[in-house]
Amino acid sequence: MTDKISHCSFCGNHKDTVKKLIVGESVAICSDCVELCESLIADDSTVETDKTGEVQYDPESIKSFLDDHIIGQDHAKIVLSVAIANHYKRINHPPKHLDITKGNVLLIGPTGSGKTLLAKTVAKYLKVPFVVTDATSLTEAGYVGDDVESMISMLLNAAGGDKALAERGIVFVDEIDKIARKSEGSSITRDVSGEGVQQALLKLVEGTICRVPATGGRKHPGGDMVEVNTKNILFIGGGAFVGLKEIIDTRLNGTSIGFGALIKDSHKEGDLTQVTPDDLTKFGMIPEFIGRFTTTTSVSNLNKQELIQVLTKVRNNYIDQYTYLLGVDNITLEFTPDAIEQLADNTIKLNTGARGLHTELEKCLMPHMYHTKKYRDNNVTTLTINREQVVSPKVVGLP
Ligand SMILES: Nc1ncnc2c1ncn2[C@@H]1O[C@H](COP(=O)(O)OP(=O)(O)OP(=O)(O)O)[C@@H](O)[C@H]1O
Ligand SMILES: [Mg+2]
Repeated sequence: MTDKISHCSFCGNHKDTVKKLIVGESVAICSDCVELCESLIADDSTVETDKTGEVQYDPESIKSFLDDHIIGQDHAKIVLSVAIANHYKRINHPPKHLDITKGNVLLIGPTGSGKTLLAKTVAKYLKVPFVVTDATSLTEAGYVGDDVESMISMLLNAAGGDKALAERGIVFVDEIDKIARKSEGSSITRDVSGEGVQQALLKLVEGTICRVPATGGRKHPGGDMVEVNTKNILFIGGGAFVGLKEIIDTRLNGTSIGFGALIKDSHKEGDLTQVTPDDLTKFGMIPEFIGRFTTTTSVSNLNKQELIQVLTKVRNNYIDQYTYLLGVDNITLEFTPDAIEQLADNTIKLNTGARGLHTELEKCLMPHMYHTKKYRDNNVTTLTINREQVVSPKVVGLP
């Protein structure tokens, strides 16, 4: 029976086209699939657990997990790891005669630099439900749009209707800078999408009982509504805060007219790591809101070397993803080092952070992915992408 198996049962490749084929009673697996399985298993096992399988909450373990998935952003990783460790310490070891304030986190920095990825990876580490919500779609209750309670509804959904689990979850409020107060004069008409939403978020972020519709098919006493306590839900706000750097700059150097402007040599370039609550208030966040996000940290634009690492080194990187996709058609995808550099250079010009890598890679592989059948028919099994291929993507080597 076994000598009849000549193909991998998982990818279907013939034994002559793979390094090794391990054959069992009725199935076989090739060395490539073994490697893939290994990496999938390794991905989960990097979460540090103690003997009882409990997740380790010490900041160094969290940071090292983040290092596997996110390139650079060292400072943000450290600050976030400590905030997370403290948050779960506070929940898991509640003090008897002390009330430890919840410290929600604010992540500031340019687009495509890893803010959402950081929050997502933290949730993966902690094995708690996690939702990404968009602050721009939120409005005050009573206006058209989602009210802030909808975020808790989503979290309950992500927890499969398990209220206790939802109450330990993480809500990532993306684009939080978009709910900044519009301008000093905006109070004439009601600022439903800005200050009003900040006001509505205050209670929720601080800790309140929120009544949301039951989900996940679980029956709850009290009908269709579930009371979720948001006291232990961690809120992470993320946003690009375009214009904040200039506010910091002005604070450091004085205004551009007057005395400060004369001393050009002493001009201090502001950067987001120096942000103060006052800067955020000037930006348009109300002080009560800022007061509830006690930990603020920033991410910065990735440089060329870091972009190259995002492309090639990080777990679940884009190149591995496309290699897999073309591998399904038995085409081995290879990149020359100068092609990788060109991809990074092109990406920097896009100004969309690491997200641009995906765009660039897709553009360069598009003609090849379209013609996979032709490659197969002509027995082309290896596709090498060099610098020219990145500059002007076209199908080569086919009759
Ligand atoms: N530091 C990084 N390390 C590895 N991958 C990254 C990094 N930054 C961004 N990426 C990649 O870029 C994609 C987009 O990043 P992410 O969604 O975290 O951006 P963001 O900072 O939240 O941007 P935005 O302000 O537009 O929401 C990620 O899915 C990931 O593939
Ligand atoms: Mg984001």
